[in-house]
Amino acid sequence: MEKSISPQLLKVRRMEKKQIHDIPKEERPAYHMSSPTGWINDPNGFSIFHGQYHLFFQYHPFSKKWGPMHWGHCTSRDLIQWEYLPCALAPDESYDEGGCYSGSAIEADGEHVLIYTGVMDRYLDDGFHYYRQVQCMAKGDGLNYKKTRQNPVITGESTPRGSSLEDFRDPKIWKEEDGYYLVVGSRARDGSGQILMYYSEDLEQWNYVTVLDQSSNKYGRMWECPDFFPLGSKQILMVSPQDMRAYGLEFHNGNNSIFICGQYDKKSHTFQREKITSVDYGLDFYASQTLLAQDGRRILIGWMQSWDANITPASFQWSGMMTLPRELTLEHGRIYQRPVRELEQYRTDQVRYEDLTILGPTTLDHIKGRVLELLLEITTFEFDHFRVRFAKNDEYETFVQYSRKKECLTIDRTHSGIDRDVVCRRKMELAPMQGQNGAEVVKLRILLDKYSVEVFANDGEKVMSSLFYTPQEADNIVLDCDGTARINLIKYSFGGLEQR
Ligand code: FRU
Repeated sequence: MEKSISPQLLKVRRMEKKQIHDIPKEERPAYHMSSPTGWINDPNGFSIFHGQYHLFFQYHPFSKKWGPMHWGHCTSRDLIQWEYLPCALAPDESYDEGGCYSGSAIEADGEHVLIYTGVMDRYLDDGFHYYRQVQCMAKGDGLNYKKTRQNPVITGESTPRGSSLEDFRDPKIWKEEDGYYLVVGSRARDGSGQILMYYSEDLEQWNYVTVLDQSSNKYGRMWECPDFFPLGSKQILMVSPQDMRAYGLEFHNGNNSIFICGQYDKKSHTFQREKITSVDYGLDFYASQTLLAQDGRRILIGWMQSWDANITPASFQWSGMMTLPRELTLEHGRIYQRPVRELEQYRTDQVRYEDLTILGPTTLDHIKGRVLELLLEITTFEFDHFRVRFAKNDEYETFVQYSRKKECLTIDRTHSGIDRDVVCRRKMELAPMQGQNGAEVVKLRILLDKYSVEVFANDGEKVMSSLFYTPQEADNIVLDCDGTARINLIKYSFGGLEQR
C-alpha cells in the first residue's frame, strides 16, 4: 500500500506526526476527539472496520483555518478514547484537486470503502473557472487508502434536470439486502436543498434512484451532510441545512442540523415526512453523522463548532472538536439522545446530594472542576429561575438556566472570556417531565469537558452543546435560585481521562 501514497499525502503525514506531539496534552479536551493539528470540521466515514470504530474528519492540517480539505483519521475501541492515525486522503488527483470533501465509509468484502466528494476547481486555458463536485471512492485496509481507478464514480450529469453541478456533495452509504445505497446533498432548480438517492449492486456502477426530500426553500438553502436510517418504527432523514432561519426557538444556528422524522417505503423508495426538529439546540453543532453499532445502537457524532462563530483561542495550534458520540432512540414518537454508555465506565469519585433545598447562590462540597458529569433533578419549582453556574471564578462564568414560567432552558457564555462579537446565548423549550413518583421533574445531565458543555435534558429529549474557552483555573460550580428549589444531584469525575 505504501507505494500508492502520493507526495502530498506523505508530506502531511510527516508534518502531522511531528505537530501532534508539539501540542501539549493538557491543552486538549479530556474526552472529546479534537483536531490532531490545524483545522477540522465535519465528522466523516464514521464506521466500524475489523471490529474497531473509525472516524475520519474534514481536515486542513496546514493552518487553523479551513483550506483544501484532507481526510484526517482516528480510531477507537470504545468511542471515548481516540487514537490518531495518519491522514487518510489528500487532494492529489484531478477529480479532487480542490478538496476531498465530506463522505462516509463502509466495510465491504474485507475492505474499508470510503466514499467522498471530490472538488474539481481549476481555471481553464480560456480563463473559464471550472468548478464541479463529484462523488469518489477509495478502498483501504484501515490505515492506507487507494482511490479507485473509476473515479469519479458519480457526477452531476446523473442528477435531475436543473440540479446544481457545483453543489453536489457529502454521500452517506449503507447496505441493504439488495445492494448498496447512498444519499447525497444537492441543490434543486429552485436553488434550495434536495437529497438524492443512488443505488449500486457492486459499489462500482451507481444509478440514480430518486429525490428523497427537498427544502423547497422552507428549511434553509443547500442541504449538506445527509444521513438516512431507521429508528424504531420510523425512518429519519438527517440533514444539515445552510442559511436557515429561526422559527420560534427552533433552528437558531444559521448552519443547522435537523431530524426529518417520517415513513419510508423501501419498495417505491418514497419518504413521507411527518415532523422536523433540531438535532441540537446549543451554539456549536453541525454536520452530524451516524453509524450502526454491532449491538444495534444508532450512534451519532457531530462537529462541535460553529461556522459563523469560531471562538478557538489564538494561542492554540488546533481548531475543532467533535461532540461526545450519542445513542439515538425513538421514545414517545420523539428522538432521544444520550451519551454513549461507554462513558460510564470512566466515572470516578461519585458525590451525591439528595433532596437538597437551594435558596440562593450555593456551593457544595466536592462539586467543583472542569471535567465532570452532573446529574441534576429539580423536583420542586418555587422559583422563576434556577441556574447552574460553572467554569466560574471571580472573573468568569458560563451558566445553564431553567426558567419555570417560560418552561425554557438557556445557555449563556457571555462571561466565559469571549472577546469577539459572537452569539453567546441560546434557548430551548423544556417542559418538566413526569418523574418516577408521577410528580414533575426537570432532569439535566451536564457533561463538562475543558472547553465544552453538553446538556442532555429530560433523559435526552433535547440536547444543547456549546463551547467556551475559559481558563481552566475557573473551576467553581455554583447552584443558584431566585426562590426555592429542591434538587437531587450526583456528580462524577472522569479521573483517568482527565490525566491522560
Ligand atoms: C459541511 C461542509 C460539507 C462539505 C465540507 C467541506 O460543514 O460544508 O458540505 O463537504 O463541509 O469541508
